Amino acid sequence: MWNFLARNKQVGAMLGLLSVAAVLAIILTTKGGSHAEENNGVEEPEDISPATHVFSTYSLPSNDKFMPSIGNGHIATNIFSDTVYMNGLYNGRAGYSHRARIPAWANIRLNSTLTHHPYSPVYSLDTKEGVFKVRVDRERSVVTQRIYAHRFYTRAIVNQISVDSKTHYDPNFLYQELWIAIKLMPGEESKDIAFEDPIPEIIDGRTVWSSCGQTMESEDLTYQPLPVDVCAFWTSVPDHLVVPQRGSRVFTFAMTADKNKTIARQELIKVLQEDGEELFQKHVEHWQQLYQQGGVDIEGNLELGKIVNGIWYYFLSSLPSESSFQPLDKYYGLSPTGLARGGTFEDYEGHNFWDTETWMYPSILLLYPQYANKLLQYRLDMAYVAAELAKLTGHKGYRFPWESAYTGVEVTQPCCPDVAIYEQHISGCISFAVRQYLAMTRDEEWLKHGGCDIVTNIADFWASRAVINYNTGLYDISNVMGPDEDHRNVTNSVFTNVVAGYSLYLAQYVSCLCKSYYMAKDPDHWADIAWSLALPYDEEHNYHPQFSGYHRGDKIKQADAILLGFPLQYAMNTSTRTNDLNYYESVTRENGPAMTWSMHTIGHLKLDDHRKANAIFNKSYEGFVREPFKVWTELRRPDVGAANFFTGMGGFLQALIFGYAGISIHMDRLEIDKPRLPPDATKFIIRGIKYLGANLTLELQANSTKLSVTSLDDNWRLLLNDGKYNITLAPGVTVILPGTGPFTIRSEQWKDCKLPSDIIGQNYLRPIGT
Ligand SMILES: *[C@@H]1O[C@H](CO)[C@@H](O)[C@H](O)[C@H]1NC(C)=O
Ligand SMILES: *[C@@H]1O[C@H](CO)[C@@H](O)[C@H](O)[C@H]1NC(C)=O
Ligand SMILES: *[C@@H]1O[C@H](CO)[C@@H](O)[C@H](O)[C@H]1NC(C)=O
Ligand SMILES: *[C@@H]1O[C@H](CO)[C@@H](O)[C@H](O)[C@H]1NC(C)=O
Ligand SMILES: *[C@@H]1O[C@H](CO)[C@@H](O)[C@H](O)[C@H]1NC(C)=O
Ligand SMILES: *[C@@H]1O[C@H](CO)[C@@H](O)[C@H](O)[C@H]1NC(C)=O
Ligand SMILES: *[C@@H]1O[C@H](CO)[C@@H](O)[C@H](O)[C@H]1NC(C)=O
Ligand SMILES: *[C@@H]1O[C@H](CO)[C@@H](O)[C@H](O)[C@H]1NC(C)=O
Repeated sequence: MWNFLARNKQVGAMLGLLSVAAVLAIILTTKGGSHAEENNGVEEPEDISPATHVFSTYSLPSNDKFMPSIGNGHIATNIFSDTVYMNGLYNGRAGYSHRARIPAWANIRLNSTLTHHPYSPVYSLDTKEGVFKVRVDRERSVVTQRIYAHRFYTRAIVNQISVDSKTHYDPNFLYQELWIAIKLMPGEESKDIAFEDPIPEIIDGRTVWSSCGQTMESEDLTYQPLPVDVCAFWTSVPDHLVVPQRGSRVFTFAMTADKNKTIARQELIKVLQEDGEELFQKHVEHWQQLYQQGGVDIEGNLELGKIVNGIWYYFLSSLPSESSFQPLDKYYGLSPTGLARGGTFEDYEGHNFWDTETWMYPSILLLYPQYANKLLQYRLDMAYVAAELAKLTGHKGYRFPWESAYTGVEVTQPCCPDVAIYEQHISGCISFAVRQYLAMTRDEEWLKHGGCDIVTNIADFWASRAVINYNTGLYDISNVMGPDEDHRNVTNSVFTNVVAGYSLYLAQYVSCLCKSYYMAKDPDHWADIAWSLALPYDEEHNYHPQFSGYHRGDKIKQADAILLGFPLQYAMNTSTRTNDLNYYESVTRENGPAMTWSMHTIGHLKLDDHRKANAIFNKSYEGFVREPFKVWTELRRPDVGAANFFTGMGGFLQALIFGYAGISIHMDRLEIDKPRLPPDATKFIIRGIKYLGANLTLELQANSTKLSVTSLDDNWRLLLNDGKYNITLAPGVTVILPGTGPFTIRSEQWKDCKLPSDIIGQNYLRPIGT
């Protein structure tokens, strides 16, 4: 027993920089060997860490797609892959545009991890420090490798290898050196970037290589006449590291990449000048500064706690840094598999889809509104191209492409033109994201700098798409496809028409908000169209057919009409909502993506049926989250599809935040209704909700719900209604919320502007849809 403890202390001391939890994770687990969890015949290595923020394993997943990524919004890679990707770096014309591969001059392997025997390495992803670690316990030393995308030196991926010798190993052993074999494995040449031959130079006594090149093919000749330059710098990597037998040492290797050579070079020099430990500490400080601003903590259910920490880790790794050594480039958006994936015809190629605004964005908006702003900025930057697309297809305003990358032109793959032609709801989804942003922030500056313009132009697009139908007296929108991609070229997709209607109403509202500095012509005509826009409804079955002429019983790919209830929060009778949920559950394909079930979960929670909600919630992640690093796949085990599937993660996060915690965003209030613990959890915290500049935390336990206020914005006084009383919120205050709500938090009205009425499909002469 004594020996055991002493050894553990020593291991702890040697690990030094590993977090306490990571050390515990290593100590608490037994010797090693092969641990695996068997699922449908697919073996995945087990996560052996008892901490919610650390994922550790003795062996790497067999499928590379399940390897974790590191990234900082500028540069990203999957651990041990041969590829590095950079924000805004694409190659290929139009539908062939994809992230351009930079060889992984940051992929350094310890020889002992390449050959496994006789050592048993432990691999850990630490989400609280934003670092991947490899620890190899050898006869005479402990070798720890840290790999991270630096959060302050944002052009850099850093590899640090520390060697701590076990001086106690053999006191009679004379001074000798330890040799640690390592290997740089950048992979083959890039097919996307014509890199020149690497050039060596000596910087501060170290050999540094650099190579510059240009992407092979521009995305669009009009909007991108020239290819893009890119330069990489990296430290030379020897075959082996030599360390004295006693003591310890840290070796730092780095790779930097940027479109600007000077910036890439300066950054590498700066990284190499820093002391190794300080360099790492600086990264951790910047990461934590970000990570602690918000989060979802789950106690009592380790699996859920880990999944949710993994999600924030992966999301934040693909979002830009808040402070950096050198100014950041423009941000090119959050794509369905993040910054670390998206090569040719793979993993959605780094494009932006509706996934960004509809699936990832809502939770980001609630806790990190500054990033919601960045995501919207990408759309503002591309708006002038959206104007061209509208014109090209004979419409007005802005029509955003289904897939968008470097220039903002349509970049959907040539395989699948239907989605590009018909899935026009993307423009409505962007407008809905704006609406939620305004509800949470009332950001006047944003309205002034493009906000008013994008909202009114999206409305103009819908106004030009809606055509009066003299038989019904209603406006139709035809030749579209809803989120259910199994049905193309339909008329009056119920989801499309509701986001279109909301877009039109929002333009009327925003015209009022913006009236002192932005001229909109005839704002009321938008609302008139929205009011009379067809809304398929079947009276007999009291449910929403997915589109006019939908044949009851037809299978669908994924959540579509049920999105009316959430996220759109379209007002409808409870009986209709119940019917929509039950009916569409019965016709959704088994092999669809996870998000469908997240939205059904939210629906049943709102209807207060937590048993049903819990059963369906399981379907929203079970089989999609891959051990040991909580990477998500698009398809359920044993299938894979795209990875690391941020879209599925986004749905799951929404089920927790807007489902279990019961939060909803409205133009005039933030609401908390029927908050409830997720299955088997004992404590559930939504930390750092940013509402009108205030910072709030919601904490749920079995018998109590508490709201605490960290800070408030002086411009917006907040009043909490706990169902009975109005309580003025003040910094430092914690309010107990009795019962199940709804509880509301509101401020005074924003300007003298009437809120959107959001009633769609009035004036109808007879039921349509059947
Ligand atoms: C790597 O390890 C293998 C097996 O232990 C050994 O054969 C090989 O020589 C090592 N490579 C280097 C560069 O030391
Ligand atoms: C590259 O960055 C340097 C340093 O920030 C700057 O002076 C220079 O103008 C940039 N070059 C280009 C082509 O943008
Ligand atoms: C907001 O509150 C959370 C929880 O108290 C805290 O961790 C965070 O630092 C606060 N501030 C910001 C800017 O997020
Ligand atoms: C789409 O539907 C319209 C009817 O609304 C029809 O005229 C047109 O041919 C269809 N297009 C295709 C490509 O099927
Ligand atoms: C909703 O319920 C109200 C009151 O019961 C009823 O008048 C109305 O027709 C219902 N609406 C729908 C769309 O079923
Ligand atoms: C989720 O469902 C799967 C398959 O039906 C089952 O094996 C698993 O135990 C369930 N998980 C939870 C946490 O209920
Ligand atoms: C919650 O309340 C119930 C009923 O009042 C009680 O039985 C239970 O012990 C309480 N649970 C906790 C964790 O306080
Ligand atoms: C709470 O405030 C709202 C809005 O200011 C007001 O309409 C309502 O009457 C107040 N309720 C109570 C109980 O004071």
